[in-house]
Amino acid sequence: MQPRPLIIDLGTYTTKVGFSPQDFSQQALPQLMVPTLVGQTKLLPGRLSDVNAASGQQYFGFEALRRSSVLSLKYPMEHGIVMDWDEIGELLNYCVRDCMKCDFESLTSGIMLTESPLNPKRHKELMTQTLFESFNVPKMQISMNALNALYSEALQSGLVLECGEGLTSCVPIVDGYVLHQSVQRLDLGGRDVNEHLMELLKHKVVFSSTFEREFVRDIKEQCCFVRECAGDGVVSEKKRYQLPDGRIIDLSQELHEAPEVLFNSTILGRDEGQNVQNLVVDALASCEVDCRKVLSQNLIVCGGGSMFRGFSERLASELAGKATPLKEKPYRRYMSWIGAAVLASLSSFEAKWITKGEYQEYGSAIIHKKALY
Ligand SMILES: Nc1ncnc2c1ncn2[C@@H]1O[C@H](COP(=O)(O)OP(=O)(O)OP(=O)(O)O)[C@@H](O)[C@H]1O
Ligand SMILES: [Mg+2]
Repeated sequence: MQPRPLIIDLGTYTTKVGFSPQDFSQQALPQLMVPTLVGQTKLLPGRLSDVNAASGQQYFGFEALRRSSVLSLKYPMEHGIVMDWDEIGELLNYCVRDCMKCDFESLTSGIMLTESPLNPKRHKELMTQTLFESFNVPKMQISMNALNALYSEALQSGLVLECGEGLTSCVPIVDGYVLHQSVQRLDLGGRDVNEHLMELLKHKVVFSSTFEREFVRDIKEQCCFVRECAGDGVVSEKKRYQLPDGRIIDLSQELHEAPEVLFNSTILGRDEGQNVQNLVVDALASCEVDCRKVLSQNLIVCGGGSMFRGFSERLASELAGKATPLKEKPYRRYMSWIGAAVLASLSSFEAKWITKGEYQEYGSAIIHKKALY
C-alpha cells in the first residue's frame, strides 16, 4: 500500500509526528508526541556513563528526561527557531526511524513540516536542505502553523492566534491567503509562564535541574488558570500538588498569577502592550477595513499555551468586542498538525510537493519558488 504523507510539527517544546489519516471522519491526532529535547551523556568519573559519553551517546524526548541524572539536557529550538540543526536532525531520525519505524527514503507520499510565522527565510531553506541532504527524502513541503489551523477548522478566512511554548503569533488569512504585512509575533509563551511560576514558588520549593523544572510545567498544566479580568482582587481557589518525593506544595495566588504574564508581560519587565491580546488588536488594525469583519468573527485560538482554563474568556474580555474567539476546541494544541494532515491529503496538493529532482535542480531556494504561503 502507498504510504500516507508524514506530518512533522516541530515545536519549541513538543514535536508532533504522524501519518495523515486515510479517513478524516474521526478526529485525527499525531501518533507521536515527544519533547523536543536532546540529552548527551555527561562524564561522571568511575561510572558506566563514561563509556557512553566516549561514544557520544544521545537520547531524545521522554527517554532523555528519564535518564536526566546522567545526561546534559538541551532544547535545540528556541522561540520556534532551530538553534542546532545537527541535534534536530538526530531528533528527527529518532522520531521517524526509531519511533515510527520508517525509512525516510521510503516516504514516497511526502513529508510535511510546519513552521511558525515570521521565521527567518533561511530557516525554511535549512529545513529543506536537512530533509533532502541528510535524509534523502523523495518529496517534502513546509506549511505555516496558522494556515494549518485554519484548514483544520475547514475555514478559508480567519484570524489565528497561536500561543505555544516559545512564541505567540496572530495571523490574518483571507480566502486562503496570508496577509503577510499584518502578521504579528511575540516571543512570549508557555515557557515564560513556567519561568514565572518557578519564581513565584521559590520561597516554597526550589527547582534547579531541567528534569525538576518539568514538575513546574506539570503544576502549570494541571492546576493553573487564567482569571476572567485583570485586577488585584484575591481569588480564593487553592490546590495542593504532590511531588514524586512526597513533598506537598500548597498553591493559591500563583495559580493565576503565573499565566497572567501572557496578558500582562510588564510583570516580566517587558514593554507595555507586549501581550497576546495586543497581537490580535494590532493584526486587525493593520488589515484593510473591508477584511476586518470576517477576521474578527473568525478568531481561532490554538496552541498548547492557550489550554489554560479561562484563556478564551479572558481574551474576549480584553478584546472588548473588537474580535470574539470562536468556541475553543479540546484538540487546539494539535491544530497545526491536524491542518497540515488535511492539506497534505488533498488531491490538489499533489503538484505542490517539492521533489528531490527539483531540489537537485534549484537547491534550497526551491522552497521559496514553490512556497505555499
Ligand atoms: N493543559 C495545559 N494548560 C496550560 N498549558 C499547557 C497545557 N498543556 C500544554 N500546555 C503548554 O503548551 C505549551 C506547548 O504547546 P505547543 O505544543 O503548542 O508548543 P510547541 O509547538 O512545542 O512550541 P512553539 O509552537 O511555541 O514552537 C507548553 O508550554 C505546555 O506546557
Ligand atoms: Mg507549535
